Amino acid sequence: MTSYLLVHGPNLNLLGTREPDVYGHDTLDDVNQRIQTWGKAHGIAVRIMQSNHEGAIIDAIQDAMGWANGIVINPGAYTHYSYAIRDAVAGVGLPTIEVHLSNIHARETFRHTSMIAPVCRGQICGLGWIGYILALQALNDPGA
Ligand code: DQA
Repeated sequence: MTSYLLVHGPNLNLLGTREPDVYGHDTLDDVNQRIQTWGKAHGIAVRIMQSNHEGAIIDAIQDAMGWANGIVINPGAYTHYSYAIRDAVAGVGLPTIEVHLSNIHARETFRHTSMIAPVCRGQICGLGWIGYILALQALNDPGA
């Protein structure tokens, strides 16, 4: 069965209450339920994890080498400065798509740079939770 790892990084557990003007009112559970509904409808297993810890995210990326066909990752603020997560993504060599709920390019300057995107197949941002579905669709498209 085709399987993907989906990683939510730091502070994304606070969705729904965190800066709702930026991130909306959906909780992480709401988003995860939609992702799982999409996975079931397409016969795809999506293993979802959230962590506030860089090392736990790196462990999950490394572990994915053993079972996943690809990775969707929203690294949260680690996007902007984690060389370690970048190295993990590059190291496992799995097709990876970076997702952001908000349009990071329309926000503070420090958010315009991603350490992770250069080692990803692509980046989706500013489309809210739909971005996760689009990323899974892209990974799952044999022509992509
Ligand atoms: C985010 C954007 C990051 O800059 C921020 O630190 C987050 C969320 C997003 O999904 O829009 O935590 O990754």
